[in-house]
Parts: sequence; structure tokens; C-alpha cells
Amino acid sequence: MLKYFLPPNRMGEGGYEHLFDSIGLSRKIFRDETVLFPDFIPPYLPHRDAQMRQLIDYFRVVLESPGKVSQKVLCEGRVGVGKTAVAKLFSSLLEREANLRFGVKLKSVVVDCRKERTLFSVLQAVSSSLDPYAQIKGFSTRDIHKMILEGLEATGTSLLLVLDEVDYLLLSSGSDAIYELTRDEKGASRVSFMFISRSSAFMNSLDESTRSTLLHNRLSFPAYSSLELRDILTQRLPQAFVSGSVSDEVVGQAAELAASAGGDARLALELLWRAAKRAEEDGRDRVTPEDVRVVYGDIEGVPNEEELASLQPHMALSLLAIARALAASDRDRLTTGDAERSYAAVCEEYGVTPRAHTAFWEGLQELRDLGFISAEVRVEGKGRTTVIGMNYSASGVAKALESLIKSR
Ligand SMILES: Nc1ncnc2c1ncn2[C@@H]1O[C@H](COP(=O)(O)OP(=O)(O)OP(=O)(O)O)[C@@H](O)[C@H]1O
Ligand SMILES: [Mg+2]
Repeated sequence: MLKYFLPPNRMGEGGYEHLFDSIGLSRKIFRDETVLFPDFIPPYLPHRDAQMRQLIDYFRVVLESPGKVSQKVLCEGRVGVGKTAVAKLFSSLLEREANLRFGVKLKSVVVDCRKERTLFSVLQAVSSSLDPYAQIKGFSTRDIHKMILEGLEATGTSLLLVLDEVDYLLLSSGSDAIYELTRDEKGASRVSFMFISRSSAFMNSLDESTRSTLLHNRLSFPAYSSLELRDILTQRLPQAFVSGSVSDEVVGQAAELAASAGGDARLALELLWRAAKRAEEDGRDRVTPEDVRVVYGDIEGVPNEEELASLQPHMALSLLAIARALAASDRDRLTTGDAERSYAAVCEEYGVTPRAHTAFWEGLQELRDLGFISAEVRVEGKGRTTVIGMNYSASGVAKALESLIKSR
């Protein structure tokens, strides 16, 4: 009976309200996480000055002889090396500078060929970007192409067409698509191209004249080094994070893991974002090296049981010692001294005699060769020390090894 007398606005109270508690309160770690998202492009791209300069050099003819000379350039490089970011930044910059500084009417359109895989849909995207009200319904590919070129001629406008991930267009539509787009006809000299690809294999399927132009106009994007990735991450820290929540150590660790995985800036940003997410979900106000190891393990996998089970007993104990010491510290690296102390403690716990220093050291080299740990020499002050790190979740590895040793 009683429930009928409860005022309706008290319905369900006490169950889930606390889930709303944190909304609107200041966040402890992120200031603005969208700064780390793949589609965010900062106004300056560290370590891509050479590419920006080279692009300006290639495309200066478009500003100097508008409507008369066009250009074609190929940008190559593996995943996450800034091809799309540079292309988007450059094309919008070219458009702005052309109009403001040189009085040249120029439009740039970036088409993602992974989404627009046919010549028709590429042209559709170009057309609607040049004129959102253009009526293209019912027209053929050829007609739309002609309408675009005529429109450019009539308005005295130049176009920079960026075909990102152009391989997909070739895969789905064959090389004819590029031939059609680039062939010489009325208005064609108003259209310049930037092709973006992960491999140069697609050059082979181009017609002779386009290929020979691109052979001279190739711009390569090398993989980023760990130091370069560090700069790329550091640039975004003030906007993305509450100050003090992300240490240099954490940034360096994400940079190094992403560098060893191929120099991929997208991975470096994702690692940092995910690690910070993990810390935030834990209610902490600092991101730790263990956060980075764990999320890297989530992305790249953890050593499987079989791999761990194949280790000799003393090797398993050495690895357990390193994993425990890393999990307990808030650093990304251990000195060999720390590792050896932890090893002594582990041996005592399991009632075995620790191996001598040299044998322990050799065991570390083996663990490194097997990929369980990283070990590198650092020159510090007066001497050289070897520092040891782990790419997997240290606490995860420790737990797996403990249960493995127990079952033995
Ligand atoms: N030099 C740089 N400075 C700042 N951010 C960068 C830089 N290079 C890449 N990034 C960022 O890294 C991420 C990946 O870059 P981008 O998308 O340009 O790579 P990509 O070479 O096009 O890779 P894919 O071949 O996978 O498309 C983006 O979030 C981008 O903003
Ligand atoms: Mg890209």
C-alpha cells in the first residue's frame, strides 16, 4: 500500500544517481581528450617541415601560372606517418594563401578513397564539395566530370584534388579511373592532384605519362623515431591533459613502444589516450607506466601461456622478479641492480638458490632475445647501466607466472 503514497519524483531513488556524480565536475586527468583523436589536426606538425616545404615547392606553379599549369604529386609512407594530416593541412593552407595572398581562386578537396571507391563517387564528392547545390542526379560519370571542368573554367577556379588511400580506388575501379581523371582535355589544366598511398606498388598500374610525372614528384614520409614521437605527443599535452597528470616518463614510454612498432604516430596517440582512460577509470589523477604497458598489451597482445611455460625454471623466476619489481614501482624501467635484488627475494620465496651474477645477466639477454623484456645500455653520469623494461602488463605477467610456477 505504502508505495502509492510516495511522491512520483522520488521514484527509483537510491539506485543509480551516483553514476551521474562526476558529470560536470572538473576532470582529474583529461582537459580535452578529443585533442588526441585521429581526426584532430594540430596547426603545426612537428618533424614534417621538410614535407610541407617540398609540397609548397611542387605546387608553386599553380599559384604562379593559375589555370595554365597543373601538378601531380605522390605521397608515400607506411601507416601513421602523417600523410593524411600533412595533406589536409597543406591543402587548406594552399587554398587560403592562394585566395588571400595571390588572388588566385583555388579550391581544395580531400577525398578518402577507402570510402569513395569508384570514379563516380569520387566525382560526386568533388562536385558536392565545389557546389553543394549542383544537380548531378541521373548524370553519367563522364557528364559529371565534364560539368566539373566546365564549372572551373567558367569561374576561373583551380582545384587541388587530394586522393587519399588512392590504392582503394585502383583496386575497385582499375587504373582507368586515374587515366580518366587526369587525361588532357578542356579544363584539365585547372586540376592538380595529390595521390596518397602506403606503397608505391600502385605506380605500376598507371598509364605511362602519369607514372613518369609521379616518378619525379614523389614525396616520402619516413617512419617516426621515438624522439620524434615524443615531440608529437608533448605538443598536445597542454591542451589534452590537466597539468602534472602525465609525466615525461609516460610520454617517452608510449613514444618508444610506438617507435618499435613501426614509427606510427596514431599508435603513440592511442596508447597515451587509452592509458589515460585507464587511469581515469581507476579514479587516479596520474597516468603510470603500468597503464601504458597494460593498454599496449591490450593492443599488441600478451605473452601466451605456452611461451611462458617454455621458459627454464630459473628464467621464469628472473622474469617474475622483473615483472614484480616493475609492477611495484611507478617507473617504466629498472636497473639491473633492482632486478637482481628482486630476483634474490623471489628465489628466497620459492626456496631456490639464486644463480650467480653472470648467469643472471645471461638470462636477461635471453629474455630480451625472446622478446619478453627490453634491455638497453644507458650512459648515465660516470658509468653505463643497463635498464630493463617490459612491453606487457607487468602485473599480468607476474600473475601468469605465479600460477604457472605453482602448477609445477
Ligand atoms: N608530425 C605530426 N605531428 C602531429 N601529429 C601527427 C604528426 N604525424 C601524424 N600525426 C597524427 O598521427 C595520427 C596519424 O596520422 P595520419 O592520419 O596523418 O597518418 P597516415 O600516414 O595518413 O596513416 P594511414 O596510412 O594509416 O592513413 C593523426 O592523429 C595525426 O594527427
Ligand atoms: Mg591516412
